[in-house]
Amino acid sequence: MKRAVFNVASAVLLILAFTPGLAMAQGKKIVLGFSQVGAESEWRTANTQSIKDSAAKEGITLKFSDAQQKQENQIKAIRSFIAQKVDVIAFSPVVETGWEPVLREAKAAKIPVILTDRSVAAKDDSLWVTFIGSDFVEEGRRAANWLINYPPIKELAAKGDVNIVELQGTVGSAPAIDRKKGFEEILKGQPKFKIIRSQTGDFTRAKGKEVMEAFLKAEGKKINVLYAHNDDMAIGAIQAIEEAGLKPGKDIVIVSIDAVKGAFEAMIAGKLNCTVECSPLLGPQLMGLVKDVVAGKQIPKRIVTEEGVFPQDVAAKEFPNRKY
Ligand code: AHR
Repeated sequence: MKRAVFNVASAVLLILAFTPGLAMAQGKKIVLGFSQVGAESEWRTANTQSIKDSAAKEGITLKFSDAQQKQENQIKAIRSFIAQKVDVIAFSPVVETGWEPVLREAKAAKIPVILTDRSVAAKDDSLWVTFIGSDFVEEGRRAANWLINYPPIKELAAKGDVNIVELQGTVGSAPAIDRKKGFEEILKGQPKFKIIRSQTGDFTRAKGKEVMEAFLKAEGKKINVLYAHNDDMAIGAIQAIEEAGLKPGKDIVIVSIDAVKGAFEAMIAGKLNCTVECSPLLGPQLMGLVKDVVAGKQIPKRIVTEEGVFPQDVAAKEFPNRKY
């Protein structure tokens, strides 16, 4: 009889050990392994802070790893999270492709994966539980829609071509691919709008400045518009434009993406014309999802962040409300 009771108890323990939500059921702290892209922009710094603060607030043990914008470092970090048997892995993939093998390893180890900020290009979507982040294609569309309706640019288009230079984000990254796609989709119906140069500035201020210098050298006063895939590259480019003796925001109209505080400061100074919002404050929602996943709850496969567009004329009023 005693033996039978013991066997039932061990069976229950065994079932519990393979049940999602064990950490919570046992009152243990959830362990989250998070692999961050790097620290390439003001946006990324705010994103990291949001994740760290929210994990601490929710009592989740965070194992944080900075990949310094290298995919190999992210893969190493994910493998180490698997070896440490964390409860959940979350990461923001630096580029879109090349993730299947490591994601299959996580799946084999029964560790759920959450994609945050950026998605991956993989056919088997059972390799991750959900993807939370912005709609980057829509951000590109919003930038283009703002541009074609901006009165000084409308005037210019009525007279002749509007020459655009584009600073792209990191090559192969979801935001670089999608922001280009969304922007071009809108411009397709606008024959006067021409992208005359397009190059990566790797989402950094330093590279944004360097590439803008090259654009100015090649095209000079022909440039009417700068479209930058993030604010940091636009801020770097503003410096290059000023050093070339031109007025950013006037001689060259600038639209970029993120809506970080630095962009609002540049708009208030009249040097940037519009920023399209991409919120990095994903921490609270991510921690909620981590808890739900561990509790075995059903969650949507895609969660899109809600965002706005901020032209220069609202910058001063909006600035005090900005959180990043
Ligand atoms: O993935 C989001 C993008 O990555 C942000 O727009 C950019 O600033 C960051 O580096």
